[in-house]
Amino acid sequence: MNDRIVTVFGGTGFLGRRVVRHLRKHGFAVRIASRHPDRCHPLFGHDDPQLRPVQADVRDERSVANALAGAYAVVNAVSLYVEHGHETFHSVHVESAERLAVLAFRAGVKRFAHVSGIGADPSSLSLYIRKRGEGELAVRAAFADALFIRPAVMFGPDDAFLTTILKLLDQLPIYPMFGRGRMRLQPVYVEDVAEAIATALQLRITSISGATCTTQPLSGRIGRGAWTLREARSAWESPLVFIRTLRLRR
Ligand SMILES: NC(=O)c1ccc[n+]([C@@H]2O[C@H](COP(=O)([O-])OP(=O)(O)OC[C@H]3O[C@@H](n4cnc5c(N)ncnc54)[C@H](OP(=O)(O)O)[C@@H]3O)[C@@H](O)[C@H]2O)c1
Repeated sequence: MNDRIVTVFGGTGFLGRRVVRHLRKHGFAVRIASRHPDRCHPLFGHDDPQLRPVQADVRDERSVANALAGAYAVVNAVSLYVEHGHETFHSVHVESAERLAVLAFRAGVKRFAHVSGIGADPSSLSLYIRKRGEGELAVRAAFADALFIRPAVMFGPDDAFLTTILKLLDQLPIYPMFGRGRMRLQPVYVEDVAEAIATALQLRITSISGATCTTQPLSGRIGRGAWTLREARSAWESPLVFIRTLRLRR
């Protein structure tokens, strides 16, 4: 299947690099598109001829067109969590998302997977959530069959969420609960999301969903883990077991 090329925009990111690896396991050749292709070699090594780093900025039409020319599928895993200068939620999550979808459709790309975020809603009061919703609408208008992936917080060994909590638990004698512990969360293992995207591109699946829990069992589980740190670490090292525990405690 190596003639089937997938371009992963954001392929060096937390999720994107896993998507790249899972696509390779499914037999796809992958172009890893980002502004800093030099970051690919430390992440993926030099040995695999089916992995190709490509310099592309999603705000630049020419570099995007080059990166996706001849591709079978495109994954948009580009993020922006904090606005700065010209990098706004609108420019990245709406305009650039639309640019990718328009150019992919024009280039004859067969499958387009757009990574959005849970609750994406064009009428939300939150600017970020609103822009994610507007981005989805723009992508759908340009590429009607696009696959939308809306993960909640993703966890994995190098994440910014649970790793931070574990570090704080290591250092603080008391750990504060988020609100009353009733906020609903849908944490998901980053490797599961990456595998879902690769499988969806291969099998033409159009919809994927997962389970919900609240912050109380989440903190309880991690909190007890902190009390006996070994337990937290072992839960952490087997995220699938951890997720299963959350489901059982719902
Ligand atoms: N992490 C989570 O828990 C989480 C939860 C829900 C949804 N998501 C969504 O999942 C997607 C991936 O998130 P992530 O956490 O994996 O992001 P990340 O680790 O911050 O990675 C972002 C990637 O995008 C690339 N990038 C950023 N700006 C770019 C630009 N202008 N042109 C080309 N490439 C650019 C970065 O490489 P360069 O900087 O080298 O260009 C990097 O490869 C995003 O849509 C995010 O909103 C993430």
